Amino acid sequence: MNNKLLKIVNPLLFVAFLTNQVAMLLYKVPGPLQYSEQMTNLHTWAGLGFLVLAIVHITLNWRWIKSQIFKNKKS
Ligand code: HEM
Repeated sequence: MNNKLLKIVNPLLFVAFLTNQVAMLLYKVPGPLQYSEQMTNLHTWAGLGFLVLAIVHITLNWRWIKSQIFKNKKS
């Protein structure tokens, strides 16, 4: 079930990150979109989407993260 959700969350996470970065690049690089409000807004909203998806991604992988941290400890 987690695995199925991750198959949706992971590509969305990638797209959000890419959008965030490309928007900031277009905002900075000389051209028709340089210093445009659209690119600042796109950067901000894609960034917020990225943050939310990253939290979901970590939550869904939490079991794996814990297993890595406590790998060598015998209980
Ligand atoms: C590695 C990732 C990121 C890079 C390299 C990056 C880069 C930048 C840069 C260079 C600026 C300053 C633009 C300027 O005023 O000249 C900026 C502004 C901003 N970034 Fe990011 N950013 C990243 C991720 C994020 C994320 C995850 C968010 C989440 C919300 C975000 C939200 C914002 C906001 C709200 C601003 C201010 C925009 C404004 O002044 O209107 N950024 N970012």
